[in-house]
Amino acid sequence: MIRLLDAAAPAEREAVQALAAEAASPFDVGDELARAFARIWVASAGERVDGFLLAWDVADEVHLLDLVVARPARRAGVGFALVEALLAHARERGARLVLLEVRRSNAAAQALYRKAGFVTDGERPAYYADGEDAILMQKTLA
Ligand SMILES: CC(C)(COP(=O)(O)OP(=O)(O)OC[C@H]1O[C@@H](n2cnc3c(N)ncnc32)[C@H](O)[C@@H]1OP(=O)(O)O)[C@@H](O)C(=O)NCCC(=O)NCCS
Repeated sequence: MIRLLDAAAPAEREAVQALAAEAASPFDVGDELARAFARIWVASAGERVDGFLLAWDVADEVHLLDLVVARPARRAGVGFALVEALLAHARERGARLVLLEVRRSNAAAQALYRKAGFVTDGERPAYYADGEDAILMQKTLA
């Protein structure tokens, strides 16, 4: 089931924080929940959190900041479902564009985003701290 993170559920927050260690840019769940423009969706199965997606609403854009699916839950459609939830939110708020950055080497994520209708529209050389390039992808909403 995909839904917004329950800020009042400490176990869920901890589960997302643990998964965030695998994110492209580690972040603090509490800091994000404190931002009015930030949203975290979780894919949950009972008590278990299988994945999360963090995004910011910025003017008429939505920025997908991070997406992580727990290793045992991968290749089962969880990541795609989280992106679909984000796109539904973006459409609902009338956003024009959904944007993201992804490591050049991250073929799995790039394939997922292409499947969800994103296209590559540029790159940022040596964007990440270890010197890897970022690929910029976007999806224009009708
Ligand atoms: C990238 C990631 C989120 C994908 O999540 P997932 O739940 O396994 O993805 P899904 O099962 O929803 O796959 C959707 C599509 O993505 C693509 N895909 C996903 N994993 C893939 C892989 N390992 N290799 C190639 N394509 C892959 C496929 O096109 C797939 O569609 P298909 O099942 O019809 O072939 C997951 O591998 C992950 O958490 N990686 C580490 C963190 C990360 O890289 N996050 C992205 C930061 S920008």
